[in-house]
Amino acid sequence: MTQHLAAPFSGTSDDAPGHRRGWWQDAVIYQVYPRSFADGNGDGMGDLDGVRRRLPYLAGLGVDAVWLSPFYASPQADAGYDVADYRAIDPMFGTLLDADALIRDAHALNLRIIVDLVPNHSSAEHEWFKRALREGPGSPLRERYHFRPGKGPDGELPPNDWESIFGGPAWTRTTDPDGAPGDWYLHLFAPEQPDFNWDHPAVADEFRSILRFWLDMGVDGFRVDVAHGLVKAAGLPDIGAGGQLRLLGNDVMPFFDQDGVHEVYRQWRTILDEYPGDRIAVAEAWTPTVERTANYVRPDELHQAFNFQYLGTSWQAPALREVIEVSLAAMRPVGAPATWVLSNHDVTRHATRFASPPGVGTQTRQAGDRTLGLRRARAATLLMLALPGSAYLYQGEELGLPDVTDLPDEARQDPSFFRADGQDGYRDGCRVPIPWTREGSSYGFGTGGSWLPQPAGWGAHSVEAQTGDPDSTLELYRAALTVRKEHPGLGAGTAVEWYDAPEGVLVLGRPGFRCTVNTTDTPVRIATPGRPLLASGPIAAGEADDGHTELPADTTVWWAV
Ligand code: NOJ
Repeated sequence: MTQHLAAPFSGTSDDAPGHRRGWWQDAVIYQVYPRSFADGNGDGMGDLDGVRRRLPYLAGLGVDAVWLSPFYASPQADAGYDVADYRAIDPMFGTLLDADALIRDAHALNLRIIVDLVPNHSSAEHEWFKRALREGPGSPLRERYHFRPGKGPDGELPPNDWESIFGGPAWTRTTDPDGAPGDWYLHLFAPEQPDFNWDHPAVADEFRSILRFWLDMGVDGFRVDVAHGLVKAAGLPDIGAGGQLRLLGNDVMPFFDQDGVHEVYRQWRTILDEYPGDRIAVAEAWTPTVERTANYVRPDELHQAFNFQYLGTSWQAPALREVIEVSLAAMRPVGAPATWVLSNHDVTRHATRFASPPGVGTQTRQAGDRTLGLRRARAATLLMLALPGSAYLYQGEELGLPDVTDLPDEARQDPSFFRADGQDGYRDGCRVPIPWTREGSSYGFGTGGSWLPQPAGWGAHSVEAQTGDPDSTLELYRAALTVRKEHPGLGAGTAVEWYDAPEGVLVLGRPGFRCTVNTTDTPVRIATPGRPLLASGPIAAGEADDGHTELPADTTVWWAV
């Protein structure tokens, strides 16, 4: 299907006088994890119809766009990040007509739609890979992946020392059509996710075509999965030191962040620019430094790249200030917005991360102190939404959801849980279907249960329970997004001004606006900067007439000055 199904987004024109340079520059984008957002057909699994029915909720929340994690035809070895057909919808999520209806309805509500693109690997059930296996050594289809003979006298050892990010070797041995042990193939993730060989022109051609397919469907952009992984160093050299794959850190890996990936994105940019309506792409690129991340958003490449250094920063003023300064400085020369994010479907939700002492990392199963975690999470969100640039929200964070840290092992689905020892496999905890209602089957997620068990009392976090309660996290998010729209300066620009502040406190802002953040566990007295606009916790601003305000522990306040 190549005809233009859905109309391109027709919201504000960026060329109109007084408008921003690109809608994405300061956009707030909401990640929907389709499995866990809303179940339209009552089979216990979220789907596109469910998302479509809840679009008014997202429009009401005040976000600019929705990013949908993969909904393509897939055996679901990695929750859809193993794509068997990039142009088809998995029946468990619906049909192409459902996708079309979703895009149209979103546009009618002034919401843009970003879809996930998974170019580093396909599913082992992809037609190319199945044929490559079937046809055996010598099949030209094998050149589109990384097939190699093994080492050792009988080829019984993997071709190099790379390890899969989900644990175990990054290679799996094949069996030849005659039943003999054969070559190995590379998979940086699960064995069901063979890596494409991006040096092969057919791979690049195919993805240009897939981009056009979805652009013709009317989508407004792509989130590029493993954007840093497509190109591998020539000769696939050993890493040494155990071959352990690390996502962050200063090590340069032969399979990540190779300079060759940028040529791919330059080509994609020309395609995106051919289409009307400001189509964008956001890179999921785990790079050693924010400076390397900035390479992905040079003017002729992608538009945004998630700032994972920020996501991994603990709730401590000096660390936060440093990562903000370094990030803004890195993005400024390339003219791209900083792209802030606190939670997604791969990490422990920030309400749970911040519930434990610093250093627990982005994948923890410690429940910690929930009250503390929520208080900090609310404060952290107001800080993020006060920074220049774009921000991504992960479904359920607006409800203050914690991770479900006590899922029984038999309920777990994350492939990394089933791979070698030492793997975390904790991603299921942030993927539990979200609660819409106080009571009822799966708390309003659907009528047929939920694919991961929801904890008792989940309904207390529901949209229904929080709507209209001025102290709720949902109403805080709604208010924050309203204020952000009323004061477009909040997300604009590329710099913040820092003001003197007591230890553990940040005071930052721009002309007319201040954001004060107390990251400590005790109240701190600060000079009242102006008129309070919004606070993540109760404050008594302006009541003392000595020009000071007591900023409670772990609290952020926005001020008009
Ligand atoms: C990043 C995705 O966010 C994650 O969920 C997935 O497992 C890997 N890429 C592999 O596609």
